[in-house]
Amino acid sequence: MIVLGIETSCDETAAAVASGDRARGQRILGEAVLSQIAEHKPFGGIVPEVAARAHLAHLDGLIRKAMADAHTGFGDLAAVAATGGPGLIGGVIVGVMTAKSIAAVHKVPFLAVNHLEGHALTARLTDDVAFPFLLLLVSGGHCQILVAEDVGRYRRWGTTLDDAAGECFDKVAKMLGLGYPGGPAIERAALDGDATRFKFARPMVGKPGCDFSFSGLKTAVRLAAEALPRGPFSARDVADIAASFQAAVVASVTNRMKNAIERFRNEYPEGRALVVSGGVAANTALRAGLQDIAATAGLDFIAPPLKLCTDNAAMIAWAGIERLRKGLMDPLDFKPRPRWPLDAHAAPAIGAGVKA
Ligand code: KG4
Ligand code: ZN
Repeated sequence: MIVLGIETSCDETAAAVASGDRARGQRILGEAVLSQIAEHKPFGGIVPEVAARAHLAHLDGLIRKAMADAHTGFGDLAAVAATGGPGLIGGVIVGVMTAKSIAAVHKVPFLAVNHLEGHALTARLTDDVAFPFLLLLVSGGHCQILVAEDVGRYRRWGTTLDDAAGECFDKVAKMLGLGYPGGPAIERAALDGDATRFKFARPMVGKPGCDFSFSGLKTAVRLAAEALPRGPFSARDVADIAASFQAAVVASVTNRMKNAIERFRNEYPEGRALVVSGGVAANTALRAGLQDIAATAGLDFIAPPLKLCTDNAAMIAWAGIERLRKGLMDPLDFKPRPRWPLDAHAAPAIGAGVKA
């Protein structure tokens, strides 16, 4: 079962071909990605209109390249999957329309994949993780704790009340003049920093439940930066703020995850794994913290390789395969969704819903 996947919901234009079995030794048969970082860099963040135009300009070529890489013709496809949301709507429309066209011309099923389900199922693509599993999804747009019960069946236990973790990394990096994207820049700067110099409060630590909040921390960092002597920040100040900020994020996220693990062990005693996904999962300090609490709880810690943690099309192709196996195809009049929560029953968090 070979499926073409398309991802255009944010600032990465990507196409990939995945196979349901490992007949050829691997599941990802071909991939092509174009990061738009250079296009957005001058603006210090993602500009939706710029993103949509770049997706439109590059997607066809990337699909051709991924298909050629996979030695696959359109006639070999069992289906075409595209991110149907949530995300920047202009980009989602580009991907969905392209996928629908291929599906219509080649008479194969079309699958609209929830981007978050793509992230969620990546651990099954790479590690065959069995349901149910506990999932931390931390990216630039999302910060959620979910239980993946089955394909298409998720329980959201926590989400952010304001900013996503990655968004907070990006904003703090901007304040410190570290540029975009901020996560990797903060992590690099933090390497030589003193994480104890700035005593930032650990958001939500000690509170029950699994929700997150990062806007207070962001403000605390801004106030600390403003209290420094005027003029460009010294490398020492930048490193110390970055390290102190990162430590606060890690403490907050691991604290929320501890609550989630306790609940998971009670409600899903058969569950074996803690899975992390999303761009922020690239952060080494965060990974180490999560690995630690997973080990203490006797859970396997599964973090897909970095390039499959950040936005990519292989995860969309794979989610397409999993959905196709269940007969969960979509009609060609599917409407792209700027918002699309994975768990429709989860109570909306205060101020959230902005992202999902
Ligand atoms: O999953 P992703 O590629 O795109 C979204 O769906 O948002 O995540 C991108 C986010 C950005 O906010 C970026 O700053 C953050 O992930 N990120 C990191 C690191 N690498 C990427 N945050 C912290 N540490 C990192 N090493
Ligand atoms: Zn993502």
